Amino acid sequence: MRKHLLSINDLSRADAFEILDTAGALAKITDGPVKKLPTLRGLSIVNLFFEDSTRTRISFESAAKRLSADVINFSAKGSSVSKGESLKDTAQTLQAMGADAVIIRHGASGAAQRLADSGWISASVINAGDGTHEHPTQALLDAYTIRSRFPQYVSGFEGLRVAIVGDVLHSRVARSNVLLLTKLGAKLTLVAPPTLLPVGVTEWNVDVSFDLDAVIPEVDVLMLLRVQSERMKESFFPSEREYSRGYGLDSRRLNTLSESAIVMHPGPMNRGLEISAESADSHRSVVLAQVANGVLVRMAVLYQLLGGARLTGEASA
Ligand code: NCD
Repeated sequence: MRKHLLSINDLSRADAFEILDTAGALAKITDGPVKKLPTLRGLSIVNLFFEDSTRTRISFESAAKRLSADVINFSAKGSSVSKGESLKDTAQTLQAMGADAVIIRHGASGAAQRLADSGWISASVINAGDGTHEHPTQALLDAYTIRSRFPQYVSGFEGLRVAIVGDVLHSRVARSNVLLLTKLGAKLTLVAPPTLLPVGVTEWNVDVSFDLDAVIPEVDVLMLLRVQSERMKESFFPSEREYSRGYGLDSRRLNTLSESAIVMHPGPMNRGLEISAESADSHRSVVLAQVANGVLVRMAVLYQLLGGARLTGEASA
């Protein structure tokens, strides 16, 4: 793997499987009473978050701490950034503090790439979500979750059918998942109102449908996306009721899933809009497994980027 993880395009299929395998090995090692490994002891990892986040920030923090790294949380709210300090000044401050890795979430698409290319810092840069562009570790944790539910696809997703449903236009999760899941061999269908599909979607290697009822019985994985109202400056659908009726997962639709199919959502969920409470809490839902797997996959990414010591079951002192 390279120095940075900015996009799924940074990874070959073999790299992606290596991360998933490493996450699996870490799951076994940390399954016992000892949750912490000494692998990244002495390294400093900065969580640089310019956008709100609960699970991604906590997940990276927990992953870094479980590998014994020191973690600095830098949230743009309440920092000098709100007083007008630029990304450059912030990056140079982090460099002076000796950061070994910077995990960045930013509202602007391309911000992680900018930081990595700038020469302002020598740290590894990990993209934790840049605008509507990409969120590679989310796609990796989703692939890990899928693989652990469908062991028959352990060495390739050929034959696996996945639908990604909802606000594709504003979703970095959808972009990274399309890139990763197709790279791993899955067959993807995007289901969304025409207004919430990006221009150029026909060039993506996916099918597109506007008929959720027809798609649901055909898939192994149904991935719902959050309706990202904060990124909408205009109206993209007539009303929330109309949206739910066309593209929301309710109990009636849930019951038409095939027997082994799973329901995924990256969170935070708008219960009652893209997913009903019964669907979110049903035995089909793997939402909490996604959260738990996120820590393992981020440990694997940190481990591979920062070239920690060989993985062993040795506990940290
Ligand atoms: C996603 C994000 O921030 O892109 N959430 C997450 O990382 N868990 C998806 C979203 O906000 O809808």
